[in-house]
Amino acid sequence: MTTDADLVTDAMSRVVEASSLDELNAIETELLGKRSALAQSQKALGALEPDQRREAGQHIQNVRKEIEAIVAARRALLEETAQTERLAADRLDLTEVFGTTVPWRGHNHLVQRTRDELEDVFVGMGFAVAEGPEVETDWYNFEALNMPHAHPARGMWDTLYLRLGDPETVVLRTHTSPVQIRLMQAQEPPIYAVMPGRCYRRDTPDARHIPTFNQIEGLVIDRGISFADLAGTIEVFTTAYFGPDIHSRLRPSYFPFTEPSAEYEITCTICGGSGCRTCSHTGWIELGGCGMVDPAVLAAVGLDDETWSGFAFGFGIDRCAQMRHEIPDMRVLLENDVRLLRQI
Ligand code: DAH
Repeated sequence: MTTDADLVTDAMSRVVEASSLDELNAIETELLGKRSALAQSQKALGALEPDQRREAGQHIQNVRKEIEAIVAARRALLEETAQTERLAADRLDLTEVFGTTVPWRGHNHLVQRTRDELEDVFVGMGFAVAEGPEVETDWYNFEALNMPHAHPARGMWDTLYLRLGDPETVVLRTHTSPVQIRLMQAQEPPIYAVMPGRCYRRDTPDARHIPTFNQIEGLVIDRGISFADLAGTIEVFTTAYFGPDIHSRLRPSYFPFTEPSAEYEITCTICGGSGCRTCSHTGWIELGGCGMVDPAVLAAVGLDDETWSGFAFGFGIDRCAQMRHEIPDMRVLLENDVRLLRQI
């Protein structure tokens, strides 16, 4: 005769054999379903005397509960295993795609980064950023900047003309100064803005010149602006961008659109000001030009020079990058040699 303990032990060994949820369900039906030995015993209870029936019934219930608990424990274990297997199957093995090392991602070109950094410094000083077209009319590039036709100062820029409209009326801008004019036409003073962008000149490339280069122009128009504001702004910018050891100085110069005009020089970044070949032993390097906006320029855009005054400056972004990263020859900036691009 099978005892309760036998039934439970037998059920346990059957349940442990179940290696999948389907198998377990089948075994569960065998052990606890309508045709199971347990169900048979339950049916047979009817033939017993009431006292015996109660006792036997209690036993059967206990055995059923034990077997149910065993099945439930096995089910929990199998479900957990199935879940782990599903997750493992879904996992993407990305090491196969990339190999074992992280790929080289690339980055912005040094000139672009320099432009972004310069913009950041000026924005931090309260300037807005504006842009203008690279193809300009003669009027914006020269005439409105106080250089009428045949003005000798036009020779300061080796201009590339486009075959568009009347001869020599459309140019590739030789500097970013025409954006000053566009800005003054577009908005009322006060104006505090920088204008970065690409410029073109019919230059033969050498260590310090490339025919396509980038400038950043600055323009301030407000009431009561003086040369001291210009000098102060240039000095603050210089130390902010190049560091506290690099200073600026202004030397008298000439530009048709400013009066007085100056050349903007900074401490030579190569020798720190003590004198070297790069700075021709002066300790200073020229970065660009600046000055007080000429009343004729204000008149060209209809601004009253009794009310408004201002200063302007313009310098080379590529030159800035060359100075800060001590690049001996500027032409490498256009060659796109990846061995160099990775370094800078
Ligand atoms: N546009 C000049 C150039 O390309 C640089 C310059 C000089 C810009 C004086 C200015 C300025 O705004 O005031 O050489």
